[in-house]
Amino acid sequence: MTRGNGAATPNAAARPADPCCLVIFGATGDLTHRLLVPALYNLAVEGLLPRAFALIGVARSPSSSEAFAADLRNSLPKFATRDIDEVAVRRVLDCVAYVQGDPDDDGTYGKLRRELDRIERERATQGNRLFYLATPPAGFAPIGCHLGESGLAREENGAWRRVVIEKPFGTDLASARALNRKLLGILHEHQIFRIDHYLGKETVQNIMVLRFANGLFEPIWNRHHIEHVQITVAESLTVGRRGAYYDATGALRDMVPNHLFQLLALIAMEPPARFAADAVRAEKAQVLDAIQLQSHDEALRNAVRAQYDHGYVENRPVEAYRETPDVKPDSTTETYVALKLMIDNWRWANVPFYLRTGKALRAKQTEVAIKFKQAPVAMFRDMPVDRLAENFLVIGIQPNECIGLEFNAKIPGPSIRIGGVGMTFKYQDYFDAAPSTGYETLIYDCMIGDAILYPRADGIEAGWRIVQPFLDAWREAPADGLASYRAGSDGPKDADDLLARDGRRWRPIA
Ligand code: BG6
Repeated sequence: MTRGNGAATPNAAARPADPCCLVIFGATGDLTHRLLVPALYNLAVEGLLPRAFALIGVARSPSSSEAFAADLRNSLPKFATRDIDEVAVRRVLDCVAYVQGDPDDDGTYGKLRRELDRIERERATQGNRLFYLATPPAGFAPIGCHLGESGLAREENGAWRRVVIEKPFGTDLASARALNRKLLGILHEHQIFRIDHYLGKETVQNIMVLRFANGLFEPIWNRHHIEHVQITVAESLTVGRRGAYYDATGALRDMVPNHLFQLLALIAMEPPARFAADAVRAEKAQVLDAIQLQSHDEALRNAVRAQYDHGYVENRPVEAYRETPDVKPDSTTETYVALKLMIDNWRWANVPFYLRTGKALRAKQTEVAIKFKQAPVAMFRDMPVDRLAENFLVIGIQPNECIGLEFNAKIPGPSIRIGGVGMTFKYQDYFDAAPSTGYETLIYDCMIGDAILYPRADGIEAGWRIVQPFLDAWREAPADGLASYRAGSDGPKDADDLLARDGRRWRPIA
């Protein structure tokens, strides 16, 4: 194993977050047990959870503080990503309360206020409140309004009040705008944290470091050297038990304006003036804003959508999407989408960005592949070379966390023979990071008021603006052009054709 030549920079963030009370709406749901509490637990182990901390769950179902605490306590070992240490468990679950109530009902907020007053007195959380909306999306605006109207989210006496909104933030441009307008009518932008869990991934956060902490890449990070970019978020998972949600959503809405565009923005943004939330978010929003909006015909030409048919994924039989429970038998919802997008700015003019994502594919693989231009002169034309390897810089996001460079080398021997070779940096060879849920940094940042990993209203709306023409074009003729692909394959043939038209091909899904 080779270590790099640089010592790690000191962990400037390694201080416990501000004292606070975390209020989770929709607290009895999966997210709390599976991700939020295990993430809080990891923060406690790392010494990053504030000493003065309390957790209040709000949900409809009847329960008590004791029963809720016991429930969280029992499920933690099941979902924790590290061994259980009782001291750390106590730091997370020492002060747990439960407020039973309908989030649409004023009375719930009265009860919540009483609990907050009591806990803030007893636990010295200094009035800092983090409201986490882990509810179905229909709850975001009403809960936000109630928090505003009841004064619970008003920042006063030096205390901060923040609201985390889960995904999806809207279902199209109009609804995202309306939600932003509603929330910004009652809260300040600096209080709103719109979560995109892709930004919690180390490999995603590293894209900015790769680009801006190295002098190596920036000079070639443009249309003079880069020929095209492929962003792949392939999942082997099927829709499974999420039929009702998924059939109303589809792959485009579920993955593109959020996760794929976050990857695209990090790859394509200009260097921000500072590594600070507003500077970074402004650059990300700006590059999304520079993506060409497609006309109706362009949207049909530059997008492929498809549904999976039955097949085998990782040797398991998979039923066709239309046979999934809660999916309409004649559904036209796409489980796969591929897009070709162009960015109208000086850095990226004429460099296509190809995006694809889908369910029930051959394997889980998220990567960004940057294809550099071929060498300008075919100097080795007469050598026995079928085809020179293409120069790719590949940023592996998951499950292979790595960065690789693919290039040509001379195959040892008396004659000139050329073969494709690769160099790969693997995170696991260099860093001993403990497994995490991916929510630790996001929650911690929210507790210290750093919104660098949270998209701002303009970034969210820019994302929806780009996908809206595709949504519109498909709505007009839902069945036209809907392709299909075998579960366990690399996706539909139409997606290959999208690149073949430009003389290109997708990288294989591993
Ligand atoms: C979620 C989508 O936001 O992201 C899911 O709703 C998808 O459909 C998931 O499976 C993918 O996340 P990850 O971290 O497994 O790539």
